[in-house]
Amino acid sequence: MCGIVGYVGPQQAAPVLVEGLTRLEYRGYDSAGVAVLNPRSSVHPSRVVRARGRVRDLEAALPARLAGTTGIGHTRWATHGEPSERNAHPHTSADGRVHVVHNGIIDNFATLRSRLADDGVDLTSDTDTEVVAHLVARELDAGLSVEDAVRAAVAQIDGTYALAVLDVETPDRVVVARNGSPLLLGVGDGEMFVASDPAAIVRHTSQVVLLDDGDFATVTADGFHSFTAGEERTARSAVTLDLTVEELELDGHAHFMHKEIHEQPDSVERMLTGRLDDRFGTAKLAGLNLEPRDLRRFDRVKVLGCGSAYYVGQLGASMIEDLARIPADAEPASEFRYRNPIIEPTTLYVVVSQSGETADTLFAVREVQRKGGTVVGLVNAVGSSIAREVDGGIYLHAGPEVAVASTKALTHMSIGFALLALVLGRVHDLSYADGRRIIAGLRAIPGQIREILADEEALAEAARELATAASLFFVGRVRGYPVAREGAQKFKEITYRHAEAYPTSELKHGPLALISPELPSVAIIPDDDLVERNITAAQEIRARGGAVVAITHPGVELGDAATSRIEVPRNEVELDPILLTIPTQLLGYHAAVALGEDVDRPRNLAKSVTVE
Ligand code: F6R
Repeated sequence: MCGIVGYVGPQQAAPVLVEGLTRLEYRGYDSAGVAVLNPRSSVHPSRVVRARGRVRDLEAALPARLAGTTGIGHTRWATHGEPSERNAHPHTSADGRVHVVHNGIIDNFATLRSRLADDGVDLTSDTDTEVVAHLVARELDAGLSVEDAVRAAVAQIDGTYALAVLDVETPDRVVVARNGSPLLLGVGDGEMFVASDPAAIVRHTSQVVLLDDGDFATVTADGFHSFTAGEERTARSAVTLDLTVEELELDGHAHFMHKEIHEQPDSVERMLTGRLDDRFGTAKLAGLNLEPRDLRRFDRVKVLGCGSAYYVGQLGASMIEDLARIPADAEPASEFRYRNPIIEPTTLYVVVSQSGETADTLFAVREVQRKGGTVVGLVNAVGSSIAREVDGGIYLHAGPEVAVASTKALTHMSIGFALLALVLGRVHDLSYADGRRIIAGLRAIPGQIREILADEEALAEAARELATAASLFFVGRVRGYPVAREGAQKFKEITYRHAEAYPTSELKHGPLALISPELPSVAIIPDDDLVERNITAAQEIRARGGAVVAITHPGVELGDAATSRIEVPRNEVELDPILLTIPTQLLGYHAAVALGEDVDRPRNLAKSVTVE
């Protein structure tokens, strides 16, 4: 979604803001802008520059000299109002005194807009954000300090926000407020930063203060103070970021997606370090905050996540059923939160999220907790909202993921589910021997991913072939179905080709009608108890002229059921889907490259969906 960055200190603000925005571009990027305060200039005590498009378009629009050491910047992913310069942030009050950047959605903006319009305020954009600038300016006119003015303006707003506000008359500070959208402060040496994501400021400092919902803060060069709507001071202290600027570089890869796919062997190895318990054939997951006797109390597991995280959740649920033999299923968090779900005290709710900021998933957490349920998280972003609100959890340790299309974080989610299934299994009926079998399988995964990636050229060739089709199917059965769903998701979001997933078993109940020489299928055919049925289904596709790219195991006799085959090494049957997914990442990636698409920044999408 939108990205926010702010700066107060001795440096010129504009370059710091632009660099931060570049690092935030992956969050949302249809327009960008900065506002910089310069009290020394009587002509331009503040300057705002905005541009439609990328941060580089903003950079091109910046005047050669944009002096000022306090400023705010924004990259926008449009919600209210088309992407355009006038809808780009920062938004400015009619008198030019207040500049605002915002991430989130103001639900009552229509009412506020018409009230302002009735009072003669000239609204210059279609956004929900602009009202905030006018509301703050009014409160300043009434004689309030900028902190009190922000507080008074926010009191009139319903919705979610991370806000950073500049007042031209108090150029030594940025005032911020947070409710439902991520916001943090960076503590430097004689300088301070504001950001919606640590990536924006990691070049400057590793000390960050994570603000909570309901927090306001005044940020000046020498520090900050945080407070609540009721004016009470809040004690927020800095934590050290587990992120380096090198992790945000391409490191010789053409795209972040490629880099992240190739990081998987090492990152999975890192994730498993210290978590496998050979002595008891289980996993060590202290962060769950659940003792074996607590875990035994759960007779059901419900997994919640959105998009690809939900597909991995389906896989996770089947691992839990297989290994722990307790009923488990997955549901999109985006649906769950709206359907007044029944929350059972003996169900363990598991939310899964890379960013830890997905609004739908966060609201699902709150829904479970409000009704007295227990919810744990599988989360990648340390210190994110979901990580902080769940009752316990497993950090995924995938490192930063910059490409919008998720790859390594999803693999880490699957591994996280395997660890959770192991723990749940070992407090139920999974034997020590089976526990050890899964541990050995997990240990083999990094090396096996390396083997798959070594065959990249063959995958690229298959991908180029698939890229010529306007439409394609991904099919898989039982454990292979979530693999097919994720494969189709990856393919469609970066190639813009229509890719649809079906359970292989469902083909003959309808979708087979679409099969033709123009519509190829990617079929997931592991060497499991369903292999014969999957081969038969592939033959049915072939008989109707459709090409089949089979992702399969060595030794599986496909005959003429496949037009091409991609092999992945065999692991334990419960863990095989993790490896079967890896080729689908490269299929999507290379098809998008062949089509000349912007792999890391697919149109209409944002990395972290912090609005509903
Ligand atoms: C697809 C993708 C999305 C996310 C979804 C949830 O490649 O990345 O479908 O999986 O938006 O995001 P997180 O995991 O951050 O909650």
